[in-house]
Formats: sequence, structure tokens, C-alpha cells
Amino acid sequence: TGVVKVGLLGVGTVGGGVLKTIRSQQQKLSERLGRRVEVVKALVRDTDKQRAVQIDRDLVTTSFEDVLDAEVDIVVEVMGGVDPAYDYVRALMEKGCHIVTANKELLAKRGAELVELANRHHVQLAYEASVAGGIPILGVLRQFLRTNEITSVSGILNGTTNYILTQMEQHQLPYEVALKQAQELGYAEADPTSDVEGWDALYKSYILAQLVYGESLPLHAAERKGIDSLHLGQLALAQELGYRIKLLARASRTEGAIQLSVSPTLLPLDHPLAQVQDAYNAVQVSGNIVGDLLFMGKGAGELPTASAVVEDLAFLLTQRFTPHPIWQERQADKVRPQEQKWS
Ligand code: NDP
Ligand code: HSE
Repeated sequence: TGVVKVGLLGVGTVGGGVLKTIRSQQQKLSERLGRRVEVVKALVRDTDKQRAVQIDRDLVTTSFEDVLDAEVDIVVEVMGGVDPAYDYVRALMEKGCHIVTANKELLAKRGAELVELANRHHVQLAYEASVAGGIPILGVLRQFLRTNEITSVSGILNGTTNYILTQMEQHQLPYEVALKQAQELGYAEADPTSDVEGWDALYKSYILAQLVYGESLPLHAAERKGIDSLHLGQLALAQELGYRIKLLARASRTEGAIQLSVSPTLLPLDHPLAQVQDAYNAVQVSGNIVGDLLFMGKGAGELPTASAVVEDLAFLLTQRFTPHPIWQERQADKVRPQEQKWS
């Protein structure tokens, strides 16, 4: 047909951005895909809610069955959480739907099963938006850094906490006020403890480790500390001493052992990561051939995240089905336990 039929699970910050982006970029998308892209069904919790994006009342439903019955080609999962997102994605894959998701928690907790399901049902699973928002870091690692030995992937992977730290340090805003602003700007998770306690950054590090090393540490074995106990006084003192506190996430492998950590870290004021402000993220990749690379951009928010989702959507529609390459490779070598292998 002349239409790519898209289903949306969620019309919140990211889902709204995806709708806007499909509309604003329709001509480019149609030229690239040879078909119009149309959202034909969108799942929400409350159909009466006022939304930041205009959406036809007939498209919105509270019944997942309506999405399953809509004969969609591809579904964008931007509802968040594991339950019921996992069951929905699974049911859709079983029906032959491709999936694009921004849900790092789902990937960090059930990614291996989802990759296995995608391979079994010959559908694509794309998740660029799940790590560092608009920065296309997964694509770069997957396609252009496969021959390097990657010693570490680290950086600022959570926009909410970086926004809070910036506001506290530069404008002396109390923690609670800065957090509220981050929520209003659409950066924070539905439950912002995931952001401020470091879980969100840990999920992203986990995804990066799986992609780069084909394995990771179990989430509970990682070192994780958030910013929820930091005070204005500590940030001011750090600055007086020539430092800035940033929430750094790091995945590395030394002598075969994976390390995964998230913790507030003192950086000299002239360190590149100390310059990263507000909801920006930065990912530093160290490779044995290329040396150090730094990628920076908006890591949270409506349009930067929608950019990653819509680019994934268009990319996977231009590809024939290919099993997840790293997953396949690692399965072939049979060295590591299967449940740890996905990409
Ligand atoms: P929001 O809370 O803004 O939106 C969630 C949407 O999903 C809402 O439309 C909500 O419905 C719907 N929804 C949630 N649970 C259910 C359910 N059980 N049944 C039906 N509908 C449901 O979240 P975001 O858009 O901020 O985030 C979505 C996903 O994207 C998350 O996985 C998040 O981690 C990820 N992400 C978010 C980024 C951001 O900057 N916000 C950046 C990168 C990734 P209703 O509107 O009726 O309440
Ligand atoms: N809550 C997340 C953040 C959204 O603040 O980084 C982007 O993944």
C-alpha cells in the first residue's frame, strides 16, 4: 500500500514529539520510504486528558486490543515501564510488527528476551532513543566502532539530573524546585526517583555495555549512587575548589571484567564533561585505535528524543530483516551465557 501504518503506545512527552515530527517531516519521510507514514492508533490511559499535541479523537484508545487489531506495520512504544509494556511489545512482535522503543528500563530488564523474540518472529527492534536521547550513539557504536577494542563508554547519560545540578549550581535553586522544573519540561521519568537515584543512567550504561561487550553486569551488582542527597553547599564548595559535580555513568572492561557504575563525580571546571549543561548529555567513548571520542547533544525532551525514534522508524523500514548482528555473533561463539547476550 502507499501508507506505513504506525501504532503508538503512549502520547506523552515523547509520543507527542513523535506525532509532531511525523507531521513536520512527512515530505522527507515519504520521499525516503516511498510511502506516507500515518499514525493509525494510539494507546493512552485517559482519552479525556488535555494534550500538548493535537490528535484526532478517533485515533486514541485505552484498549491495547485496538492497537493489535489495527493491522499496523510498526509500533512505537513510548509508554514507559516494564509492565504492561513487555507484554504488549511481545504480543505485537508475535503478530509480525516491528518495534521502536525509547524504554531503557524495559531493555535493561527484558532486552535479551525481546531480542530473542524479534529474531524468532523476523521483526526489527530498534531502541536508539533509549540512550542519550537525540545523540545517535548506539548506531555509531553498532556500525562504526566494531573493530576497535572499546575500553570504556562513559559520560552524562541523564538529562534530568544534569538539569538539576546546573540549576542548583548556577542559579542556587533548591533541589526540589529544580526537580519540579525538570518534570515540567518533560525531562524526568514518570517516577523521577529513577532519575535522581541513578537508575535511569544505570539502565543506559547497561544497554551500552551489552552493545559494546555483548555482556554486562547484573543491574544489582553495579555501583549506583544518585544526586538525591546533594546540597547547594556541596556544589558551592566544589566550585570554590575548582570543581563541578556531575552524575557520571561508566561501563568499562579491563582484563575481561566488566565494570558498571553511576555516581556523582568531581570534575575540574575545564574538563569537557564539566561544560555540559541543562538537559544535555555527553558520551565519551575510548577505543584502542581511535582514542577518545566525545558526543554531545540533548539527552531528554520532546523533540530530541522524537528525532531518535523517527530516525529509527525510517531506518528500519528501509532495511530487510536482519537478525541482531551482535547477538548472533556472540551466540555463535558460545563463550558467554546466552541470557547475557543481546544488542
Ligand atoms: P509520559 O509519562 O509523558 O507519557 C507516557 C504515555 O504513555 C502517556 O500518554 C500515558 O497515557 C501512556 N501510558 C502509560 N502507561 C500506560 C498504560 N498502562 N496504558 C496505556 N497508556 C499508558 O512519558 P515520556 O513520554 O516522558 O516517556 C516515555 C518513554 O520514553 C519512557 O520509557 C521514557 O523512559 C522514555 N524516554 C523519555 C524521554 C524524555 O525526555 N521524556 C527521553 C528518552 C526516553 P496518558 O497520557 O493517558 O497518561
Ligand atoms: N528521564 C530521562 C533523562 C529521559 O532525564 O535523561 C531521557 O532518557
